[in-house]
Amino acid sequence: MMIKHDFIERNVGVMGVLIALVISVAGMAEIVPLMYQAQTTEPAEGVVPYPAVELAGRDIYVKEGCYNCHSQMVRPFVSESLRYGPASVAGESVYDRPFQWGSKRTGPDLARVGGRYTDEWHRLHLMNPRDLVPESNMPGFPWLAERELDGDLITTKMNVLTMLGHPYTQEQIDGAAEKVKGVTEMDALIAYLQFLGVANNGRDQK
Ligand code: HEC
Repeated sequence: MMIKHDFIERNVGVMGVLIALVISVAGMAEIVPLMYQAQTTEPAEGVVPYPAVELAGRDIYVKEGCYNCHSQMVRPFVSESLRYGPASVAGESVYDRPFQWGSKRTGPDLARVGGRYTDEWHRLHLMNPRDLVPESNMPGFPWLAERELDGDLITTKMNVLTMLGHPYTQEQIDGAAEKVKGVTEMDALIAYLQFLGVANNGRDQK
């Protein structure tokens, strides 16, 4: 026994492989059970897949890098709940691919921003944040108002998400192109923001 131990300690390659093995097994023991827990894989009450326009808006959110300054996860602290609402739960993110939890907050958390402002507020704010919040360092995104959504693209996306298990109905997929017709990227992004957290904003504090 002593000799084997000695052998491992003197061979950095063997030691490295064994360390990697121990870490992987321990990591799997932590991660794998989560994949089978309903709490982390089932949607929270009222949470549904993003409808066509909101789904397109979500892609614009990702494309424009809004996540570089905004998280979408209310942490379980009183100060957070007082400001943003109930703490986020895993089941609220099951239809987020990739999720937007984040840890960088140059701006406020947006997990529950849905319904907090009017569409018009968002429109003015996205055109030039300083018109509404003079001290803001958020950039304006005026070009979004000039671009329109692509119906084929959103239909394809919904089909792919269906393959991944999002419960879209055939009717929703067939109607997607019509829903996004003539809708600007700005309108889609606002629809997405207004959708954020609304299913759970009123959830009781646990
Ligand atoms: C450089 C960092 C930065 C980027 C990038 C950024 N924001 Fe902001 N955002 C802020 C800051 C700072 C505030 C707070 C001041 C204000 O309201 O403008 C804010 C505020 C907001 C608010 C109001 C939130 C509230 O609860 O009052 C919304 C909504 C918002 N941002 C959406 C967006 C969207 C959508 C994008 C991407 C298109 C984006 N932001 C990109 C920094 C940023």
